[in-house]
Amino acid sequence: MMDDNILVSTEQLEKIICDLAEEVSLAYENTDDLVALVLLEGAKYFANDLLSKMDLPFDVEYLKVSSYFGTTSTGIVTLNGHDDLQVKIRNKNILVIDDIYDTGHTLFNLLAWLEQCGPQSVKTCVLLEKLIEHDKPAAIDFLGTTIEDVFVIGYGMDHDEQYRELPFIVELSSELIEE
Ligand code: IMP
Ligand code: MG
Repeated sequence: MMDDNILVSTEQLEKIICDLAEEVSLAYENTDDLVALVLLEGAKYFANDLLSKMDLPFDVEYLKVSSYFGTTSTGIVTLNGHDDLQVKIRNKNILVIDDIYDTGHTLFNLLAWLEQCGPQSVKTCVLLEKLIEHDKPAAIDFLGTTIEDVFVIGYGMDHDEQYRELPFIVELSSELIEE
């Protein structure tokens, strides 16, 4: 039942991530002071796989970001654990890694906050972009693939903390939603 609605298979994910790792490694070939900033929790699996395939030196920082309540974006973005990050971002080349570009509130707010920290450069790498009109614009420099406008789970993405461990990306069907 779960497999019926697979939108991105395990094999497709592997290919997407290999290609992205190559693209990102090439883009930062001659760049020092690269910091990968991973947005938790959703991008954890994606970032682990991507970063392990990257062919250059970098630091990794994590930032917990939340805006969702169930399957709805609240539009209010909370950044947690960023107090000492500001210092680590100054003058560095920041690669933001996120799972999905949906309404855009998360990336829009995060990018605005990052700018205040005085980075040398900021680029974004996102696994999925939903094909919708985003409420807030955000420039995506490296994109895995696009998906239709459905709520998805798996490969790090959750519904109320469930289903992150699925090795593929699947549409959340009503029978999977536990009341
Ligand atoms: P945005 O702020 O609406 O662009 O959403 C960004 C964040 O919401 C992402 O980083 C995800 O963590 C979460 N999100 C958005 N859409 C989905 C989805 O379909 N499934 C799971 N998480 C989602
Ligand atoms: Mg997220």
